[in-house]
Amino acid sequence: MEIIITPDYEQMSKTSAQIIAREVKRKHDLVLGLATGDTPIGTYKELVKVHKEEGLDFSKATAFNLDEYVGLAPLHNNSYNLFMWENLFKHINANPENVYVPQGNTDDPEEFSHWYEGKIKKAGGIDLQVLGIGGDGHIGFNEPGSSFASRTRVKALDKQTIQDNSRFFENIEDVPRFAITMGIGTILEAKKILLIANGEKKADVCAQFIEGPVTSQITASSLQLHSFVTIVLDEAAASKLTRTEYYNWVRDNKHLVQKKVGR
Ligand code: PGA
Repeated sequence: MEIIITPDYEQMSKTSAQIIAREVKRKHDLVLGLATGDTPIGTYKELVKVHKEEGLDFSKATAFNLDEYVGLAPLHNNSYNLFMWENLFKHINANPENVYVPQGNTDDPEEFSHWYEGKIKKAGGIDLQVLGIGGDGHIGFNEPGSSFASRTRVKALDKQTIQDNSRFFENIEDVPRFAITMGIGTILEAKKILLIANGEKKADVCAQFIEGPVTSQITASSLQLHSFVTIVLDEAAASKLTRTEYYNWVRDNKHLVQKKVGR
């Protein structure tokens, strides 16, 4: 895993957007996996900027979102579908036929999950998966204890996630208890993975998933099993890491082995 520590949220957003833009330029029909939450808002803003100022072309790209709350209609205020349209899709030249967010109000989540997996497969698999991390170490809504072999399915939300996400709802009782989420197995099949995190509240969990043991109790630690992961943090989220000096040296000197590393 490559760990890139940036001074602040703004630089984390710029660096992660550059990584995504580079992949879109490299392959116009890129298949992106995308995340919601506070963390990627700055990244998406930067991507919109690159689209508007430099003409970054998304017209041939496909996007699959990680997750959606069960029970919420696509245009519900708190739906992740609406979040994606408001924060990214409507500002770029995405083809609406090629953007997928799990359907929270489906009558048959099991069948839908199966269909979603099939769509990802048919698109050729995810080239670059963007991830945030939850306070409980989740990626997508793969809460502690999720199987590393799991596929897209319904998952019950952990107490901490309900608490963390209640800030977006009027009452904590309004936070849905379930979500449809890509599984860890689905995520690990992406060719490349980019995880972003910021703020002191993520410092403990970042140290755990990057430098701690691989465990289903911190599902982001499953990324240690993937061969191409880039993690972009701000200094606050990186503050509990112990090998910072090494990560920074690699960040500043990787040009020495660029061809071999391929990043
Ligand atoms: P956040 O959520 O970006 O709002 O912190 C991240 C997540 O739960 O995956």
